[in-house]
Amino acid sequence: MSQQEIEEYLQFAIQLAQDAGAIIKAAVDSRMAGSGSNIELKKENPTDLVTETDKAVEEFIKARLFKTYPSHKFIGEETFASGEKTEFTQEPTWIVDPIDGTTNFIHGYPFVAVSIGFTLNKIPTIGVVFNPLLNELYSAAKGQGAYLNNTIKLPLFNPPQPLTDLSHCLIATEAGSDRSKLVIDAKIAAIHDMLRKKDEHHPFAAESHSIRTTGSAALNLCNVAKGVVDVYWEVGCWEWDVAAGMVIVAESGGLVLEGHSDKTETDTANIFCRKYLAIRAALDRESQLHIASQMKDLIPAIDAPRAPVPGGYKA
Ligand code: IPD
Ligand code: CA
Repeated sequence: MSQQEIEEYLQFAIQLAQDAGAIIKAAVDSRMAGSGSNIELKKENPTDLVTETDKAVEEFIKARLFKTYPSHKFIGEETFASGEKTEFTQEPTWIVDPIDGTTNFIHGYPFVAVSIGFTLNKIPTIGVVFNPLLNELYSAAKGQGAYLNNTIKLPLFNPPQPLTDLSHCLIATEAGSDRSKLVIDAKIAAIHDMLRKKDEHHPFAAESHSIRTTGSAALNLCNVAKGVVDVYWEVGCWEWDVAAGMVIVAESGGLVLEGHSDKTETDTANIFCRKYLAIRAALDRESQLHIASQMKDLIPAIDAPRAPVPGGYKA
């Protein structure tokens, strides 16, 4: 695919994200003004929320995509949730989360984004994440760098601050939607070790600067790309949460690795792996991998299986 085509897709995705963002912003404004008809719908899992706006925005994006590029493939959170069979192929594929941060959307907490990723030959090639509540647009295309609001090159720190030790890091993570005792105990134990002082019983404890959660995987990745958090670790999010953000992190000079405890794994994460460890840009790859290795000392072995859906799912 030519650079010109990539540029065309990037501009298309930016416009699409802004138009979808306008729908999200209008829905928040009308709910706050007491006139919204946004009924909160619960899936079987009471902490995995979906609203009419999630569905309407995905339909809007899908319709525009298929009208413009009828032969392209589409993977979207709500389409997947409805049980539609999807496949990941070499074909040009758009991977979309209409609202990342649905819980924030319901509460009016302003970390809400539409996330539009694009893969070609299975390679993440374009990423656009737009937060219409803060009017922040993050975009990147492979080989072209990552930008905030089209003009500000990421990371914001130029040159990036040195990455020396996890004890100097600000770490982003999330509760996620699996609230089983096993998973929450393991996550809290890991967070405990990220925060506490080392001692003879906890030689790997990091005593890091602190923990942050935005409630949006896509925006956590954009914060890594900005360089305002050093590390983001999450188990349990999905390809639509990360497909765009992974391109934005990579183009900012950051790494996204598989976030499991295998210390030898230094390859870029598979979009579908559901376990992600992102490290911000640094002066050299060695220092990024050092931080990844320190994180992997703390990351628990949590399972994040792909739930079976009618029709099946092949990644
Ligand atoms: C969720 C958010 C959240 C993350 C969950 C995701 P949604 O996406 O990204 O930060 O912890 O794993 O599912 O449901 O708001 O699209
Ligand atoms: Ca979503």
